Amino acid sequence: MSLLDTPLRGLLGIELPLVQAPMANNAPPALAAAVSAAGALGSIAGAALSPEELRLAIREVREATDRPFAVNLFAPPYLRDGVLEVVLEERPPVFSFTFGIVDPAPLRAVGIVTIGTATTADEARALEETGVDAVVAQGAEAGGHRGSFLGGFPLVPLVELVPACVEAVLLPVVAAGGIADGRDIVELLNLGASGVSLGTAFLFTPEAGRPRRHLEALRTVETVVTDAYTGRPMRAAGTPVLRELMAGPPPLPFPEQRAVAAQKGPLFMGGTGARRARELDAGELVRLLFAEAQEAGASSMPPG
Ligand SMILES: Cc1cc2nc3c(=O)[nH]c(=O)nc-3n(C[C@H](O)[C@H](O)[C@H](O)COP(=O)(O)O)c2cc1C
Repeated sequence: MSLLDTPLRGLLGIELPLVQAPMANNAPPALAAAVSAAGALGSIAGAALSPEELRLAIREVREATDRPFAVNLFAPPYLRDGVLEVVLEERPPVFSFTFGIVDPAPLRAVGIVTIGTATTADEARALEETGVDAVVAQGAEAGGHRGSFLGGFPLVPLVELVPACVEAVLLPVVAAGGIADGRDIVELLNLGASGVSLGTAFLFTPEAGRPRRHLEALRTVETVVTDAYTGRPMRAAGTPVLRELMAGPPPLPFPEQRAVAAQKGPLFMGGTGARRARELDAGELVRLLFAEAQEAGASSMPPG
């Protein structure tokens, strides 16, 4: 059996156990559609969308591909009014969330597979107890906001978090944070992950449509984790603008701090893998990652 033939594939109905991480304000529906069409799981980042925008995004992806895709939202108290209702009505194949717990029961009742985000083994256990179908293990390396919801903002390196989560829960564990190539994928599958989730790597695809200055900042400036941008810890390029905010007064609560930050200048979320990101079409990137993984996996198989 191939290392890539994991339970996540059957659960999500995908050919390749790879999820394009949802990235609010950074990942348009066209990216999700391209990734799903390539055989992995694209994700619509719904957290910054109105109910009507979310409905249109779901329909856009459905028109572009008949393959499975996910919709992602923030958990309460950050869940916007009316968006979960759209998910229940439109019934995307998969629903993922971060920042806490969304009760999976009503989603499951209409046939939607649910995925929660954990930054510790305890959070993975809490998600399993609520009845989700899979857990994303978000390591310290991950770009964007930390999903932590059980006190504090732990920064567990992914190679420690994945085995801890695999031991803590029976559910498929999806590794996220700093993953850039096929070797990374093989390393994490060997640690027991059932799949991988990549965000930053997809920021560099034309489908994401990120401005050049975002990509350059991630390539040239070391990333840092701080709550000075939005009021919640997230990883972004440690540009002079962000450093100035970090040296300033304590941040307002999430998400009000964002307005304070916006007055200072542009900021660029992303993870530690940006320097190794390739600028390719999203579908090509998915195919390359798996060709590399197959090569790396094959060469690490015992002879005979
Ligand atoms: C720009 C950006 C925005 C993000 N927004 C979301 C989001 O809306 N919802 C979510 O669950 N995760 C979000 N994340 C976190 C990703 O789901 C994922 O954990 C992360 O991208 C994985 O690490 P990587 O970026 O190093 O691949 C975001 C990440 C980035 C880089």
